[in-house]
Amino acid sequence: MWARERIELVAVSRGARPADRYVRGGLLLNVYTGETYPANVAVRGERIAYVGLRDDMVGPRTEIIDAGGRTLVPGYIEPHAHPWNLATPAALARHVLPLGTTAIFGDNLTAYELGGLRGFESAAAALAHGPLRFYWLIRPHGQSPADGESRRFSRPAIRRMLGKPWSAAMGEVTRWPDVLAGRRDLFDRLALASAAGKRIEGHTAGAGPEKLPGLAAAGFSSDHEPISAAEAIERARLGIALMLRQSSLRPDLRALLAPFVKAGGFERVMLTTDGSSPSFIARHGFVDNLVRLAIEEGVPPATAYRMVTLHPASYYGKDADLGGIAPGRYADILLLGDILEPRPAAVIARGRLVARDGQSTVAFPEPPWRRIFTPRSTRLDRTWRLAAEELELGEGTVPVLRLVSAVITQLDERPLRRGDLHAALLDRRGEWITTAGLSGFAPELDGLATTLSTDCQILAAGRRPEAMAQAVNRLLEMKGGLVVVDGRRVAFELPLPLGGLMATGPLLEMARREDELKSLLAARGYAFHDPLFTLYFMAADFLPSVRLTGRGVWDVRRARVVSPSRRRRSR
Ligand SMILES: [Fe+2]
Repeated sequence: MWARERIELVAVSRGARPADRYVRGGLLLNVYTGETYPANVAVRGERIAYVGLRDDMVGPRTEIIDAGGRTLVPGYIEPHAHPWNLATPAALARHVLPLGTTAIFGDNLTAYELGGLRGFESAAAALAHGPLRFYWLIRPHGQSPADGESRRFSRPAIRRMLGKPWSAAMGEVTRWPDVLAGRRDLFDRLALASAAGKRIEGHTAGAGPEKLPGLAAAGFSSDHEPISAAEAIERARLGIALMLRQSSLRPDLRALLAPFVKAGGFERVMLTTDGSSPSFIARHGFVDNLVRLAIEEGVPPATAYRMVTLHPASYYGKDADLGGIAPGRYADILLLGDILEPRPAAVIARGRLVARDGQSTVAFPEPPWRRIFTPRSTRLDRTWRLAAEELELGEGTVPVLRLVSAVITQLDERPLRRGDLHAALLDRRGEWITTAGLSGFAPELDGLATTLSTDCQILAAGRRPEAMAQAVNRLLEMKGGLVVVDGRRVAFELPLPLGGLMATGPLLEMARREDELKSLLAARGYAFHDPLFTLYFMAADFLPSVRLTGRGVWDVRRARVVSPSRRRRSR
């Protein structure tokens, strides 16, 4: 297969065989040299056969794509995405392909946690046929430590996934304190990446300068977590490749670019949207937006395009396939009206014209989600009901999670005050409950329940336990999503039938529902900018400073249970 494809490419490049497509009249931005010059591109199948001024490979059946007056740049690469945020990866691909992104390196966690090895592999196989190319980052552990984790994330399963052609690296590895503690079981997992010749994607949120050398020594080869220029340059100096982030939760890119603009050292810099929400993508765009911001911040245009093409391709060892317009590479080519406007006039992916003027001209397959996320695999198969009394906190001192930003919390231990909410994390099968107070969220919220949670459980919050219990019970009937109850009236419902995290609607529809939720919560006093991530991360015990977990209310800094979870009997 490989040999035949290459023999054909060689024949086309020599003019001995006709090309399938011929992109004529464009100005090529050469990301390898930084030059711009006129060049035509001949395509055979999915790959580029020839770049230059000859046209002897144009035959009577060669399709001509007119690129007159356009600049040709390689398709954009997103090196670190979580493509499971309300919309499916396929819906995301449909939306961002016309915006110029032709490859996404995505986190496998959601499909793996909720669909198992078989489920994730069948999603990856289905997505592999689409015009946007997905590569996967393989997690070595779950989001939060839980019973049975070493069985769920077994080493044979990880080894198997790392051996697949669609797997690009191991990551993201969020448990950096375990790395510094030299936890052998974790290193035995990281070793699987090394054995497969793959890199290890770090996640070093909050790690100070004294901790970073140990993380670099452990083999973390990239990081996307710096939130300030100082954090970015500290990591870059240690040889850690950077994915500078502009996401809905952390729109930090302008500040992060500053030290690199000053020093000029961009070779190891990439750009990422991380886990941006549908509404943020609908408003700002995707990788195209990153290029625009970089150019605005004074990055030379050729460098800005390299950061989203050649750099990520080279970082993942895929520069023979991706990241440049040259013979042998996949024909993922954007036609820009202007080098300063990264949103393309037309997009060629896998050798075919797939979008024009922002509109997709091809279909993108949706994986068979109902077979991948079953009620059993997503743990939404049991019928149980929650009673309001189970959410009562009593009169005395209780742990209170106080939000100091959209996602960062502080621990208070005191009786509940006016404006505080009740909060609870519940096992999806109703086997345990963790309760606490919550302040700084949305003081006028009666009851909310959702399956949007990084540990795939059920989160409830509100000032009225009856309304919270009603929201949880409605959520269980819906088999996942988000419910808001005012008094006794359901005020908002967002069904997310795919694992409780996604629906199959177009990205713009999910963005509209997200905006509705935002204004509804803002009307009830929510004061931060990203409610989705406030909800997702209430259980994220890799972030400071206190979280709701299956063990109980968890003090992240001191690694201790402040108040334990309670077993409950399903009713
Ligand atoms: Fe991430």
